[in-house]
Amino acid sequence: MDVAVMRRLRTRFVSLAGEYADRMGERREHIVLKRDHSLRVHALTVRIVAGEGLKPPLAHLAAALLHDIGRFPQFERFGTYRDDESVDHGEAGAAFLADGDFLEAFGARERVCIIEAVRLHNKRELPDGLDPLTGSLCNVVRDADKLDIVPVVLARMQAGGPRDSVVTLGLEDDPGAWTGDVLETVAGGGNPAYRDLRYINDFKLLLASWGPVLVHGTSRRLFAARGYLDRLFALLPETSRLSALKSDLAERLRA
Ligand SMILES: [Fe+2]
Repeated sequence: MDVAVMRRLRTRFVSLAGEYADRMGERREHIVLKRDHSLRVHALTVRIVAGEGLKPPLAHLAAALLHDIGRFPQFERFGTYRDDESVDHGEAGAAFLADGDFLEAFGARERVCIIEAVRLHNKRELPDGLDPLTGSLCNVVRDADKLDIVPVVLARMQAGGPRDSVVTLGLEDDPGAWTGDVLETVAGGGNPAYRDLRYINDFKLLLASWGPVLVHGTSRRLFAARGYLDRLFALLPETSRLSALKSDLAERLRA
């Protein structure tokens, strides 16, 4: 039963992405990128849900699959994935789901929680006092989302690889430069805000800072096992400050 519901939801999501991609013509690859990201976040969530025994599985999987559904109308309308230059794509996704029948297979409470998790998935901080199911959906989606964004961005940061300013947020590509405040935030155990980033190297530091703050042990183990720290720091300048930061992050990831 659950498997059939999930399969239908996936099919519907993929066909919605196809409609947007067809309308985007040459820029269809940006829609495809988010479609594939959503499918991988869904697959990562399958692993986290199993590893952590989260219930009910189906609500978690649906929230993961649909978390970025607001990206499609955002890109079609504004041609960017920068929320600060367009709309908050979490809010856009929640509004899209609330207006449609994507979640008709779910009961009223699960539907409300899934929509709320989509709305909140990209907020810097989650509000206090969240309903427990909404909180659980948010945690898994935010973990899986971070786990998948790292390789997507890494692939476009490799020397000689494809450059894509939509993915690297239009940041300055100066191989030797980073922002001191961003590095200090990461060293202090924090996560810089997107608006604080100036250079592509700042973005690498932001991505590295996500590992230790993943909520679930299964997520942190995936971050470590995939070698994200090594891969990010291999693309940063070799300085003693940065290599000390890498060791520190690796230790926090294991804690
Ligand atoms: Fe998102």
